Amino acid sequence: MIRLDNIEVSFGDFTAIPNLDLHVRPGEFFTLLGPSGCGKTTALRTLAGFIQPAKGTVRVDGKDVTRLPSDKRQVGMVFQNYALFPSMSVWENIAFGLRVRKEKPADSDHLVRDIARRVDLSDEQLAKNVAELSGGQQQRVAVARALVLRPKILLLDEPLSNLDAKLRHQLRQQLKDLQSEFGITTVYVTHDQDEALAMSDRVAVFNKGVVEQVGTPQEIYDHSATEFVCNFIGDSSALTPDFVAEVNRLSGADLLTDANSYLRVEKASLNADGGTVVGLPGTVTSRTYHGLHSRYVVHSHGADIRLLLREDGSPQPEPGSTVTVYFQPAHVLQYHPETGAALQREDQAVRLP
Ligand SMILES: Nc1ncnc2c1ncn2[C@@H]1O[C@H](COP(=O)(O)OP(=O)(O)O)[C@@H](O)[C@H]1O
Ligand SMILES: [Mg+2]
Repeated sequence: MIRLDNIEVSFGDFTAIPNLDLHVRPGEFFTLLGPSGCGKTTALRTLAGFIQPAKGTVRVDGKDVTRLPSDKRQVGMVFQNYALFPSMSVWENIAFGLRVRKEKPADSDHLVRDIARRVDLSDEQLAKNVAELSGGQQQRVAVARALVLRPKILLLDEPLSNLDAKLRHQLRQQLKDLQSEFGITTVYVTHDQDEALAMSDRVAVFNKGVVEQVGTPQEIYDHSATEFVCNFIGDSSALTPDFVAEVNRLSGADLLTDANSYLRVEKASLNADGGTVVGLPGTVTSRTYHGLHSRYVVHSHGADIRLLLREDGSPQPEPGSTVTVYFQPAHVLQYHPETGAALQREDQAVRLP
């Protein structure tokens, strides 16, 4: 559906994207995830036709659109702050692109009302000023304004990042529902890994203009292909060579002691149940109460292991006490100390795109 091949984008002598290949499938919710400044917006704007790449090709539906202006690409874009016109009505905002396209007024009205109905905006709301709407309703206006032009592709650049946490969670679902209802191929940009995992069919993890991994949320979480991805996604503790050597000694595992090794918080436990096979003694160095659970840090063989303990009302270990940290050696993630590439083991097949 969308294909970027060997895309290079530079600003002056700064190369924001050295060589990008991406392939987005029809109907897919595809997310570009990475820290601020890694080139997500640049990639999206290149796809939209607002930026000309120095090298490479952009294809949509097999057609080379690299030199095509943005308004001829059939892409709809929703910007971070929605970029709605605050002095215009909701109707006028949605109709804006149709006016630019010189659509007949009667046709415009029909198209605006049709799309408004589909994104759950009432006739009454259409007559209002956008400033009178809530954040969630404004988002629907921004999406309607993009969809009314019948784009083949919907591009969303951090559409939730200016909202407070609770609204962000609600609108996540709203956006996801709209996307699946319209079945439109969507490229979504965010720096929020939680959002990316919850919403996407597939995710591309960006680091300094380079894609480190493309995969389903589960693939990038359970089989992070690089040390950067492992650290960016989820929450994990770095293990020491000493700690890893002790795991090998106790369990007979053959983990590499000179690799960079990690254990995700939810893979470690203070209880020996649930298929755990190795237990290392350590000292509780901190405990933070979070209501449903407490967060612990346990110091063992030079490593600070973070883990969550469910609060069930029973007495819990306090800082200073000795506990045993249980986990499966197979859950230890290992990376090459120089290249950062995942070290493949038989019980942990790493799948790359
Ligand atoms: N118009 C521009 N001129 C110069 N540098 C830019 C321009 N746009 C982006 N950059 C630089 O390119 C890099 C990637 O930016 P951007 O794509 O906006 O990152 P992200 O969206 O991931 O936060 C950053 O270092 C940014 O400073
Ligand atoms: Mg950006």
